[in-house]
Amino acid sequence: MSEFKKQAAEKAVEYITNNMVIGLGHGSTSIYALRKIALLIREGTLQNVRGIPCSRQTEAEARELGIPLTSLDETPIIDITIDGADEIDSRLNMIKGGGGALLREKIVAQASKTCIYIADESKCSEFLGEKWAVPVEVLPFGERSSCAFLESLGAHVTIRRKADGTKFLTDQLNLIADCNFGIIHSPKAIAVAMKSRAGIVEHGLFIGIASEIIIAGKDGIRTLKH
Ligand code: A5P
Repeated sequence: MSEFKKQAAEKAVEYITNNMVIGLGHGSTSIYALRKIALLIREGTLQNVRGIPCSRQTEAEARELGIPLTSLDETPIIDITIDGADEIDSRLNMIKGGGGALLREKIVAQASKTCIYIADESKCSEFLGEKWAVPVEVLPFGERSSCAFLESLGAHVTIRRKADGTKFLTDQLNLIADCNFGIIHSPKAIAVAMKSRAGIVEHGLFIGIASEIIIAGKDGIRTLKH
């Protein structure tokens, strides 16, 4: 599986040209893109590029790899973002947030001219929700009310915890409510309902955001486009 992740990531890096500002995704697929970008910078093949990380973890990885960084405050428009996904349908809708970084990932994506997502073929489903719950970032204040609201939308809700049993906290020090809706036939309706509720900071339904999705698997690399 990691070979497929690498193949998808390296294909996406081919879209990067000199002088670009790059959104750097979070997770075990995106790290292959970061490594390739770093290699091209070291070789001198890629010049004058700067990255904007989607999480503190990605920021640390990018610094270690020597990728020059900037921020959305310095550079509010990003040329291209390359990021992973947890579940993908054929309409280019996605569930993201398995790593808990969905809020920054969505901010970075919405600031980007082009968003390329990368995955191995195990992430593909006919409908979202077949394999993955929707991660939802909620404020700690009113946690139980937020969870009750999410349940009223039809989700089975679990507050994410770390291996030691304590609650997982996002980079913004919020909680993640993993919302299992079962198969999602109308992701947009659920997305709109979630956004209408105070206390819900952001959700991991990425609808209409992907420009392209690159999927690698045993039969090679394919690209989903609108
Ligand atoms: C992070 O919050 C997520 O959205 C990741 O982008 C997603 O979970 C993909 O991660 P992997 O590449 O590790 O599967």
